[in-house]
This record gives sequence, C-alpha cells and structure tokens, in this order.
Amino acid sequence: MILTVTLNPSVDRSYRVDNFQVGKIFRAQEENSVAGGKGINVTKVIKTLGEEVIATGFLGGKAGEFIEEELRKIGVECNFIKIEGETRTCIAILDPVANTQTEILEKGPYVSQDDIEKFLDNFEEISKSCNIIVASGSAPSGVPEEIYVELINIAKRNGAKLILDTSDTYLSNAIKAKPFMIKPNKAELEKLINKELKDIEEIKKTAIELHQSGIPIVSVSLGDEGSIISCDEGVFIAIPPQINVVSPVGSGDSYVAGMAVGIKRGLSIVDAAILATACGTANAMHYKTGYVTREEVEYLKAKVKVQKL
Ligand SMILES: Nc1ncnc2c1ncn2[C@@H]1O[C@H](COP(=O)(O)OP(=O)(O)OP(=O)(O)O)[C@@H](O)[C@H]1O
Ligand SMILES: [Mg+2]
Repeated sequence: MILTVTLNPSVDRSYRVDNFQVGKIFRAQEENSVAGGKGINVTKVIKTLGEEVIATGFLGGKAGEFIEEELRKIGVECNFIKIEGETRTCIAILDPVANTQTEILEKGPYVSQDDIEKFLDNFEEISKSCNIIVASGSAPSGVPEEIYVELINIAKRNGAKLILDTSDTYLSNAIKAKPFMIKPNKAELEKLINKELKDIEEIKKTAIELHQSGIPIVSVSLGDEGSIISCDEGVFIAIPPQINVVSPVGSGDSYVAGMAVGIKRGLSIVDAAILATACGTANAMHYKTGYVTREEVEYLKAKVKVQKL
C-alpha cells in the first residue's frame, strides 16, 4: 500500500471568463471544482496506475468533505485528521481569449497543536502498513516547518521509504533527516543551495552531492528537458518524448506518483524513472492537473530515453 500526505489540500475552483479584466463584473461561462493540492494530485495518478493508496493530512469544513468525497469516488482510502477550520479554496480564472490564468490562493486554515499530535500518532500507525510514502507541498499555519523531519524519522523507524516533494524551508530542514527520495525542480534546487545552476553539468554535480550526503534517490526535474537522477546505480538523464503541451502544471506531482508506483512494484530506479517520466509527460498533455490515462502512460513509456551522464 502507498500512503500520500497532503498537509494543506485545497478545493481548486476554476472559472472560464473570456476577455477577463480586473475591476469589472463577469459571468463565468463555465465553472468547475476539483480536489487539489500537490499530494492529492499524486494520489489520483497512483490510483490511475492501478495501485491501492491511502491519503492522509488535514481536512476541515465543507471543503474538506468535498475533497474526501471526490477521493472516495475514485476508490482512494481516506484517513485525514479533521480540523476545526475550513480547508482552503484556490481560485483560477481562465481566459482562453487572452490566454491568461489569474489565481487567488487561500493561505489555508490554522492547525492546532492537538491536531498535529493526533496526525503524528495516526501517521505512525499507518506507516507500519505502508512501505512507500509520498509527502508533498507546504503546510498550513500552526504546523512547524520541521514537520517533514518528523515524518521521515517515523517512516524510517517503521521501515517505510518516504519520497518528499516540497520546497523552501520545508525542504532545507527535511534533507538533514535524509528522506528516501527528493524531487526538486531546477528553481527549487537553486533555492536550496542558494546558487544559480547554469547547465546540466552543474545540476548533475549538485544532484551527486545531495545523493552522497545520504539521500538514496535525488531527481531534479527540468520540465520538457526531463530529469537528472543520481542514485547508487549512477547518474542518469531521463528525456521525455516531444508532445503537444496543454498544461504542465502538476507534471512534477505525476512524475512523483510514477516513481512511487515503480518503487512499490520493485522496478529498477531507471525503469521507475521511465514510468515517472511517462506520467509527467502524460499530465502535460491535458488541461486537468494530476490527470493521466494508463493507455497514454504505456504508450509514452516506450518513447522515454535514458542516458548515463
Ligand atoms: N512539456 C513537457 N513535455 C514532456 N514532458 C514533460 C513536460 N513538462 C514536464 N514533463 C515531464 O514531467 C516531469 C516533471 O515536470 P516539471 O519539471 O515541470 O515538474 P514541477 O516543476 O515539479 O511541476 P509541478 O510542481 O507543477 O507538478 C519532467 O521531468 C518531465 O519528465
Ligand atoms: Mg513540483
């Protein structure tokens, strides 16, 4: 069983408004709400690939109920801690005429110390039966920025591999605890080491250094250029096929889902990276975030190229 952790999920609500402008009143031509947040995207892709998945994190209010319902509909087991506050809603206004996307992101609810303790106790229990864990994104207020350090330590104690996809202080704190895998994109990696990375050579060197510091898999994702993976087997680049890009938002989340499934199935890291790349690429072919089909993933897998660096 794979466990996903989404500390700050959201209801992602989008409105289609042709010729949108600030300061005016518009009627939406279309509106849509989906369960969102990076870990929720990962969850959906894992489920699409055919693996059983439990989702945990914090949920509250009507928005929280909506997310749980959406996940249950697709057969995801939900094991969230219910909080007092309301789970956030993030709004996107899409204007297909001007080709713009305007977003308003809520900060999220406050999580009490009591609820954090409940979450950690619950995580300790579930991590005993889940050997692969994926934790993604930031955390709502009240949750300490060292939260992932605790999750990594608990996972290790229970023999589970934790894949971490986060950024900023959450990431810089967490790498000290040596998660099983990290997947920063280039911007996140530059922020982590506080240095601009000019070319593939510099990215490779940084990935190797992080791997040698004790992180078994370091994958740096580079959008349509693919990803550089440093692991015990060596350093590789996984190059995706060229596609008609619709929206690459959530491709990193889909990539992480593919890695988790690959590792769960006992694939080699190179084969897991091929599956991950196919998932990231498939996601970029759709407007929806964290959406791939099994057929596309199968088809794309055969077109991914891996080279030793
Ligand atoms: N335009 C694209 N064409 C083909 N493959 C892509 C494209 N964009 C992304 N991918 C695949 O998905 C992987 C992850 O994408 P990316 O580097 O954009 O992640 P990210 O910045 O973490 O995204 P997000 O956080 O929005 O999920 C890439 O390594 C690549 O394999
Ligand atoms: Mg990302």
